[in-house]
Amino acid sequence: MKFSVKVTSPEKQQNTCLILGVFEEGKLTATGKKVDTLCHGTISKLLKEGIFQGKLACTLPLFQYTPFACLVLVGCGKEKNITPILFKKIAVAAIRAACANKVVEATCYLTELPIKRQSLPWKVKQLAEATGEACYRFDTFKTEKEPPLTLKELIIDIPHSKYQKPCDQAFKQGQAIAEGVTFTKNLANLPSNICTPHYLAQQAKELAKNYPALSVKILEEREMKKLGMGALLAVSQGSAQDAKLICLQYNAHIKRAPLALVGKGITFDTGGNSLKSPENMVGMKYDMCGAATVLGIMKVAAMLKLPVHLIGIIPAVENMPGGTAYKPEDILTSLSGQTIEVISTDAEGRLILADALTYCERYKPDVVIDIATLTGAVVVSLGMHAIGLLSNHQPLANALLAAGEESNDRAWQLPLWDDYQDQIKSPFADMANSGGRSAGTITAACFLSRFTKNFRWAHLDIAGTGAMMMGTTERMATGRPVPLLMQYIIRRARK
Ligand code: BES
Ligand code: MN
Ligand code: ZN
Repeated sequence: MKFSVKVTSPEKQQNTCLILGVFEEGKLTATGKKVDTLCHGTISKLLKEGIFQGKLACTLPLFQYTPFACLVLVGCGKEKNITPILFKKIAVAAIRAACANKVVEATCYLTELPIKRQSLPWKVKQLAEATGEACYRFDTFKTEKEPPLTLKELIIDIPHSKYQKPCDQAFKQGQAIAEGVTFTKNLANLPSNICTPHYLAQQAKELAKNYPALSVKILEEREMKKLGMGALLAVSQGSAQDAKLICLQYNAHIKRAPLALVGKGITFDTGGNSLKSPENMVGMKYDMCGAATVLGIMKVAAMLKLPVHLIGIIPAVENMPGGTAYKPEDILTSLSGQTIEVISTDAEGRLILADALTYCERYKPDVVIDIATLTGAVVVSLGMHAIGLLSNHQPLANALLAAGEESNDRAWQLPLWDDYQDQIKSPFADMANSGGRSAGTITAACFLSRFTKNFRWAHLDIAGTGAMMMGTTERMATGRPVPLLMQYIIRRARK
């Protein structure tokens, strides 16, 4: 698809499809008024007659009674109520409607919608991301493919040429983020019979092949055994698939201490011998969303040639039950030397992360962020909207919260107080791998905190946000938190 960001005037865009926001009170934007005149009051008539009411994210395509190839009206709700999240929602709905109506060329005027505290470049960036979202499909495994996209060109209108440069840059960033989100979604949506630990390792190698600034090293089980990664290997021991520890490095020549990203890569989580119920098992192919995020971030950073030093660590493991699998009450010795009593083999994520986090120390990182579909409890507390954030360094937490707001990929902080540490006491080992039902997200982070004492660290629990699930019929990866992390990294690159 071809994109351009430029100053346009609607009367000169007549051979394209105009995308236009309409408020719920029947009020039109400045361009809306111009366009209404150009089509002799068609829009105001539709509004007056209540045929189109401007309700949030409702769309109406018009092919007649206008001088344009097509006109897509998109409802924006009340003018003063457009939040950043709603802006994206409106944009996705409008571009989807244009695609569904086989539009080939569109000019988008959504940049004129008022959104509190957000700049024009911000809107342009969001429109780039919204386009990726609207055009996303995953039909690899369908015999009947969805019809190919007709949309070949999208023009984003800006009000004045003095904004050209920052808007071009914002668009470029948004487009790269959209590509990263798509990459992450595609990986996360793969089933575990295809996306095995070996497959994830191949993907990392492929990235390193395509981007010279990226290098990769894969640790095999025997090497991990030699190192003493008893926690990670215990999770893997019931599986026919070999575990891999994927280590990526971007811009190794930059001497500044790196930012390390650690992504949970459980390619399928049966729960192990603490077996999940059949209902709770569907969706567990998504237990590698953290890993897919790390790979997506490495790709975007390389695409944008960001001047940052990054490490990506992915413990890739399948969690299976069976005669060779680890069991409740087994005692494991982690890479850190600390011992762990297994209470539940379904609390496997923290075990593989423990060893991966300890392994990070050898890179002398400035900051470590882990990304994991770690707890069902975060789905209960924050649902599908906010990422759970816990950290041992408040300035880092603040920076991530701000990046989430800025990128429409919000996180919410939970306390990492020592009070909760008591819940993971074990009578036989240094700690237990489960803290029971109460405050499950916090006790999981407390467990991780015992392996992150030597660096500034934040944990993103994406169990509720990495994929959306409505029963078995509607399931889809979201690509989160690629936008949040990219925002954080772009900020970091500026410093
Ligand atoms: N992968 C799950 C967490 C999860 C649950 C992700 C729902 C997405 C949706 C994790 O490995 C898990 O099973 N956690 C347990 C921990 C418990 C046994 C301490 C949980 O949250 O129930
Ligand atoms: Mn589990
Ligand atoms: Zn899991």
